[in-house]
Amino acid sequence: MSAIAKTDECFVPEQDAVPITIKVTDREGGQVRVTAAAGLSLQMAIRQAGLPIRSVCGGRKACGTCRVRIAPDWFARLQPADQVEINLLNCLKGRGESDRLSCQIRITAGLDGLAVTLDR
Ligand code: FES
Repeated sequence: MSAIAKTDECFVPEQDAVPITIKVTDREGGQVRVTAAAGLSLQMAIRQAGLPIRSVCGGRKACGTCRVRIAPDWFARLQPADQVEINLLNCLKGRGESDRLSCQIRITAGLDGLAVTLDR
């Protein structure tokens, strides 16, 4: 049985606790490198880095306030959005083709280097 590492959001197996780097472009166009443990949601990782990202519904795919734009070369590498997420994204003003709800993206080791832009 593997050891467990505790994060603010959940428990993750220790082998998955290797920090993952995410490149975040903020609302002013500045670039910030966010380091987070695998297992966190992207929304929580961005928030823990002190960047402004909203989460009105608490990750229930109901508000869309956590929307981010995924860099095109990363978009196809993510687990696809389910129909509920797609429906919500389709209702949001100014939807982009690579938009996702950050609360629905679980950080994994394979996402090291992921590039996202915060919603404007
Ligand atoms: S926090 Fe509401 S949809 Fe992500």
